Amino acid sequence: MTTTAGHDPFGLTDEERLARLDLDTLEQLVGLVEYDDAADPFPVTGWDAVVWAVGNATQSAHYFQSAYGMDLVAYAGPETGNRDEVAYVLTSGAVRFVVKGGVHAGSPVAQHHARHGDGVTDIALEVPDVDRCVDHARAQGATVLEEPHDVTDEHGTVRVAAIAAYGETRHTLVDRSRYDGPYLPGYVERRSSVAHRTPVFSALDHIVGNVELGRMEEWVAFYNRVMGFTNMAEFIGDDIATDYSALMSKVVANGNHRVKFPLNEPSPGKRKSQIDEYLEFYGGPGAQHLALATGDILATVDTLTAQGVSFLSTPDSYYEDPDLRARIGEVRVPVEELQRRGILVDRDEDGYLLQIFTKPIGDRPTVFFEFIERHGSLGFGKGNFKALFEAIEREQERRGNL
Ligand SMILES: [Fe+2]
Repeated sequence: MTTTAGHDPFGLTDEERLARLDLDTLEQLVGLVEYDDAADPFPVTGWDAVVWAVGNATQSAHYFQSAYGMDLVAYAGPETGNRDEVAYVLTSGAVRFVVKGGVHAGSPVAQHHARHGDGVTDIALEVPDVDRCVDHARAQGATVLEEPHDVTDEHGTVRVAAIAAYGETRHTLVDRSRYDGPYLPGYVERRSSVAHRTPVFSALDHIVGNVELGRMEEWVAFYNRVMGFTNMAEFIGDDIATDYSALMSKVVANGNHRVKFPLNEPSPGKRKSQIDEYLEFYGGPGAQHLALATGDILATVDTLTAQGVSFLSTPDSYYEDPDLRARIGEVRVPVEELQRRGILVDRDEDGYLLQIFTKPIGDRPTVFFEFIERHGSLGFGKGNFKALFEAIEREQERRGNL
């Protein structure tokens, strides 16, 4: 694995370098692996951006700064020639969010928001060769939403294209190797207006997609066939379910494992599962949660809590369960420190991970965040699914959706 070239698929992305991340740190944070991209029909370097449609981008941008400690770095809107929307670009470590809101009722972003509420419209990926990816995707039957084309301004040229994923979600493919502007042509630099911000996450670990009943395998096959992703070991069958929240889940990852997509489908349970609730309120398939990697989840939770972020609570019985205590063994802090903050632990043959989940971040019971601190484990917290479901079901019951 080399660490030199700008867009070498084995090396660091510009965002990672700017965030002062190195490959060892990333290997620890997100479970990066070495791989040979020569045989990869659809090489992906890493994440480019997570694009959100929201009801009020001006206020959401403030929220991501004031509550999550992100930096505002760029802006586009009517003042820069976009008559339909405003867009704020925010970063934390190597993570880039683009938060868009419609400025009139006919704006495509406003219409997307009317259908889905606040949510992720685009999981944009950085690729070294946009045309090669699109040729392969098309040959494999993918829907090409935007043909490869160049966009240019005084900072250089970006080559982009887009393919359709689940629901109304898309993957924009971006080659920014000839570009040094703040985000994309059309955007201007914009600095944070919120004075006191503490960064609490530095990389994106995975994004979970919820798809319709019976369609998980189809989407796993899509990522295998169209994008050359491979299946990771973690598989959740409905055996892990509670009485209410049965689901099936498989995980696909790109070659270097920077980009990991767990895919969930509901499984018929006694009552409405959390996946059913998501699909109903989002109005179809979409991104359920984004897992953000931190090197110190205790500090992350303390900072976020002080800044008004609400997490799912974990019952004391979780920490007092002797089976769990035996299974998790020694972790880097006393279990009481985790219990005080509601942080969950899972362990597998490779190591352990610490994780916690926020409540839904918008008005609809849909998208939320996970924070994750990995110590060798490449898993996703399978051992915590039951405890997590039960916590979600308590919230569902309070919403009258169980
Ligand atoms: Fe997760």
